[in-house]
Amino acid sequence: MSLPASDLSKKADGRTTMELGAVLPETAEVRDDHLFIGGVDMVELARTEGTALYVIDEADLRHRMERYRDSFRANYENSDVIYASKAFLNKECARIVAQEGLCLDVSGGGELACALSTGFPASRVFMHGNNKTPKELDEAISAGVGRIVLDTRIELGRVSEIAGRHGVVQDVFMRITPGVEADTHEYIRTGCEDSKFGFTMREDFAFKCVQDVLNTPNVHLKGLHCHIGSQIFSLESFREAANVMVELMARIEREYGIQIEELDLGGGLGIAYQAEDNPTSIEEFARLTTSAVKDACTEHNVPLPRLLVEPGRSMVAPAGVTLYTVGILKTLPNIRKFVAVDGGMSDNIRTALYHASYEPVIANKAGQPRTEIVTIAGKHCESGDAVVLDGSIQHPDLGDIVCVFSTGAYCYTMASNYNGQPRPAVVFVKDGTYRVTTRRETYEDLLSRDV
Ligand code: LLP
Repeated sequence: MSLPASDLSKKADGRTTMELGAVLPETAEVRDDHLFIGGVDMVELARTEGTALYVIDEADLRHRMERYRDSFRANYENSDVIYASKAFLNKECARIVAQEGLCLDVSGGGELACALSTGFPASRVFMHGNNKTPKELDEAISAGVGRIVLDTRIELGRVSEIAGRHGVVQDVFMRITPGVEADTHEYIRTGCEDSKFGFTMREDFAFKCVQDVLNTPNVHLKGLHCHIGSQIFSLESFREAANVMVELMARIEREYGIQIEELDLGGGLGIAYQAEDNPTSIEEFARLTTSAVKDACTEHNVPLPRLLVEPGRSMVAPAGVTLYTVGILKTLPNIRKFVAVDGGMSDNIRTALYHASYEPVIANKAGQPRTEIVTIAGKHCESGDAVVLDGSIQHPDLGDIVCVFSTGAYCYTMASNYNGQPRPAVVFVKDGTYRVTTRRETYEDLLSRDV
């Protein structure tokens, strides 16, 4: 894996930190050339807690949760928002999700264990996964999770058997692949036909399987689910998906005489990774999806279901930043300028994996214009290990603190220990104070599982 060639014609954008608009967490400000988030000096925080460091702006995170909850409720009374924990989850985050009155999507036993350890009500948990193990299903059913989202017919038998053993009837959803091609990176597109996820609609497979679910003991078909992909900018795909799903609900009612009570449209709303990105707002997303569902229900003459959405990225990504310290500067004339930091693909794999783009600044020069184009490389033994490709940044010096924005989702949860790198701590900042919510990994942690 190597880096894409640097674009030598690219000019630095000359922006100062506060000119980065959409990528800034809500409480970002610059005082005396230092970047502050949640009233906390990022330069001082980096020096006391060390780098690499994940920082979450708690006010920003909570406001996004509230905006989701309130805008869905305002447009559609019988609705609930499910936080997709795969984007980011630690115990403190699970507590905040509970306090904000949201439900939780877990995609395995580990996320479930984290939620339950904080007293998160199991009845508000939705369990996903295309290959949940029998052990995970047992953990979920014995904990009393609200819904299990069936991904295949094979899983139907497993859920039925385990629920029977526990003497319960488990509420389930069926995850449908609606055949909608979302406008996003192919690796994170999930609703199209060629997908490992869900029941395909081809050859009427999903519809036929509904009959199997209805005929299976110890499961109750409560709803249908779809998820068409992630980091989606064009909302038309959501309207299409809603229409396909409601049409299926109507047909189930007509032909099987069963009313589907709940419809879960998944997550996927895109966010700004670049200052000039202009994603749809949470409020607009709520207006569009709720009106799409209402229109489709009118057209197909079915009663309005309870409506669910399960966003992850658009709730937590913009609230998070990652801090690093500059350790090495290396200029290759007419090739590129490297700024190497004390992290990289172990704390943010998204650049190597998807060529994701991020906006960086130097937290101790935050009021200055970004005058250089650099590649922010990591410290790992891999040529493709970079956090930012061809990014504008202030003039870098050794020891500077680099802050990379929009890293609240799919960075911590996708982190690894490559090269024996201990994973960073997670700090929440709010009202001028901070608290470590996940401590930094130690060498002892790394060695603790070896025998
Ligand atoms: N529901 C289901 C069933 C999902 O699979 C996902 C994401 C979500 C909800 C939340 O989607 P969001 O609102 O966050 O887009 N690692 C990739 C993203 C993978 C998304 C996987 N599923 C990335 O870093 O871009």
